Amino acid sequence: MPVTLDPTYLESLPAEQLLRTVIGHFGRRFAISTSFQRDGMVIIDLALRIDPATRIFTLDTGRLPEETFAVMEAVRTRYGACIELVYPDAAEVEAMTTLYGPNLFRSAVAQRKLCCQVRKVRPMERKMVEFDAHAVGLRREQSGERAATPKAQLVSGKWKFAPIADWTSAQVEEYLAKHDVPRHPLESRGYPSIGCAPCTRPVSAGESERAGRWWWEQDGGKECGLHVTPEGRMKRELDVLLDEVLAAARR
Ligand code: ADX
Ligand code: SF4
Repeated sequence: MPVTLDPTYLESLPAEQLLRTVIGHFGRRFAISTSFQRDGMVIIDLALRIDPATRIFTLDTGRLPEETFAVMEAVRTRYGACIELVYPDAAEVEAMTTLYGPNLFRSAVAQRKLCCQVRKVRPMERKMVEFDAHAVGLRREQSGERAATPKAQLVSGKWKFAPIADWTSAQVEEYLAKHDVPRHPLESRGYPSIGCAPCTRPVSAGESERAGRWWWEQDGGKECGLHVTPEGRMKRELDVLLDEVLAAARR
């Protein structure tokens, strides 16, 4: 008999127990959403020890670094895992790049967020139709925007879990070393946070963990939209651009 999910109770659970509870509860309607960075790798390793058939998906934006595919292959080999790759809608990408160019993210914050919507957020929304719940590798320590991340929350009617929200970077490193978990090749080259190739650079000593993401922006919030809802003026500007792209994609 599945237990009732209570966010306060789930918040009190260590990562392994939280994952065991939600995998037992949701089964095939639960998935790990991962980009194969170190936080996501902890969750994959923990979950596959509980149930080797746990579903894993990744958003292949079309602009990922080659090294991300290398770590995907390492995960497939190490765990015998099936990774579900999710692609953006081809007509939407074509309309967007025809209107604004392939590297539109350099032009303005709104254009960058448009690219993230088309390549990440909208494919995520489509994929989530298959699930009632997913787990992500967010940690509170990663940035000010993430400092209040709950371990369990309902977002648009679906459960979103952040099992290692309260872990420190040192705890993550300790876990990965202890269990000899595959590592993303860019981590040892100075990338503590890794997204799309053109939007990620290594960080220097003393820079924050996410300083290398969209580093040219002054006011972009360092989020792609998977974990926040852009608001106010930016939201309206983004909506105008997105509506234009969707209309062109339907033509
Ligand atoms: S992002 O929003 O800026 O891209 P970040 O790279 O820190 O986020 O990753 C945070 C979490 O978002 C990851 O642990 C993962 O759960 C999810 N995530 C990020 N990128 C992807 C992706 N390409 N595919 C699936 N999940 C992703
Ligand atoms: Fe586009 Fe960059 Fe966002 Fe990737 S991270 S979807 S390339 S703007």
